[in-house]
Amino acid sequence: MDPCIVLNNGARMPRVGLGTWKAPAEKTKEAVLTAVRAGYRLIDCANDYDNEHAVGEALQELLSAGEVKREELFIQAKLWNSNHRPEHVKPDLEATLKDLQLDYIDSFVIHWPQAVPSTGKNPTLRPDGCFPAHYSKNSMFPLDDEGYYSADLESHYIETWAAMEELVDQKLTRSIGLSNFNRRQVEEVLLSAAKYKPAVLQNESHPYLHEKDLRDYCRANNIAFQAYSALGSADRPWRVSGSITSGLPTPGYEVLSHPQLLEIANKYGKTVPNVVLRWHIQLDGALVCKSATPSRIQENFKIWDFSLSEDDMKVIDKLNVGWRHLLWAETSMHPDYPFKDCLPWDYKLGKPSAGSTAGAK
Ligand SMILES: NC(=O)c1ccc[n+]([C@@H]2O[C@H](COP(=O)([O-])OP(=O)(O)OC[C@H]3O[C@@H](n4cnc5c(N)ncnc54)[C@H](OP(=O)(O)O)[C@@H]3O)[C@@H](O)[C@H]2O)c1
Repeated sequence: MDPCIVLNNGARMPRVGLGTWKAPAEKTKEAVLTAVRAGYRLIDCANDYDNEHAVGEALQELLSAGEVKREELFIQAKLWNSNHRPEHVKPDLEATLKDLQLDYIDSFVIHWPQAVPSTGKNPTLRPDGCFPAHYSKNSMFPLDDEGYYSADLESHYIETWAAMEELVDQKLTRSIGLSNFNRRQVEEVLLSAAKYKPAVLQNESHPYLHEKDLRDYCRANNIAFQAYSALGSADRPWRVSGSITSGLPTPGYEVLSHPQLLEIANKYGKTVPNVVLRWHIQLDGALVCKSATPSRIQENFKIWDFSLSEDDMKVIDKLNVGWRHLLWAETSMHPDYPFKDCLPWDYKLGKPSAGSTAGAK
């Protein structure tokens, strides 16, 4: 199994990457050092994870000590929702580059399709840390006067994409891509792309959410599908019963405690995370998985010395219930909200509340 996928620009992207969402800033540097020393070459970052500066410190240490060369690494970052206006796109990436202490990254993806205003009224996220260059207080998750998420209705990702294309020409990123876009939205960008087509689509996928149609669509259009929450996102508070994914039975177990996965893991003398990650790459995919625990970071990379049988792949196929963790339903009033089909028929728009959605604290 080739540990890399060849992107539509010819670059090689490692199939397995370290995720950094929810990694506390004080643990992130060690996590990145551990990951690179264990063999990971892809680090997945975003400016709203509040730890890009810590990733930057780790990269600087590794590069200056000669432990790894810049060209061996694949660094991915994301354009935040409040920076979709074309004039904000480059400043967003420049702030990330400053925090990462790099001249360029390898992949820059639009984090979500829904644009939000670049200023807001209510205190929201990140009392300190690395904000995008345009940052003004409360701008990451702006709320309206009633406490609902705001939308920037005059901004659309098609114009954002044109500004993303410029970043490739300016050599600030080697490739550009999308995240949390549904198939129709990906298609729109593909059709509009003047110079560069999306190289990567980073969307949620794990044994409860296979996204096989989207994976096939990406394959047919030469876009690398990269799974996020690849292990089932065990540190999300509503991971077992709280997802409101429309009409679906709750799986009853966290992905990592599923008895059938445990049985498969025991058969191969591997752990459940190993089995889940191996399943992803045997789908010919790519993934990012997060841990801030050094021993788990090392464990999660030990997936190159075994392969799952066809029968075991089929067992995992049957676990798919289309169950999405990261619905971010409170933004579903936005015209560019991507997951309307997953909302329950009687869903009523809610205000962000602690632990219930991305960005609420
Ligand atoms: N584009 C987007 O909107 C988006 C959304 C979500 C995620 N992502 C990216 O995808 C990455 C991964 O997704 P995720 O963070 O949601 O979840 P994940 O990788 O599916 O799961 C992370 C959780 O699994 C635990 N874990 C990891 N390895 C383990 C092991 N060997 N044994 C037991 N538990 C283990 C971690 O614990 P510890 O950390 O405590 O070890 C953490 O609680 C993110 O970090 C981020 O980079 C992107």
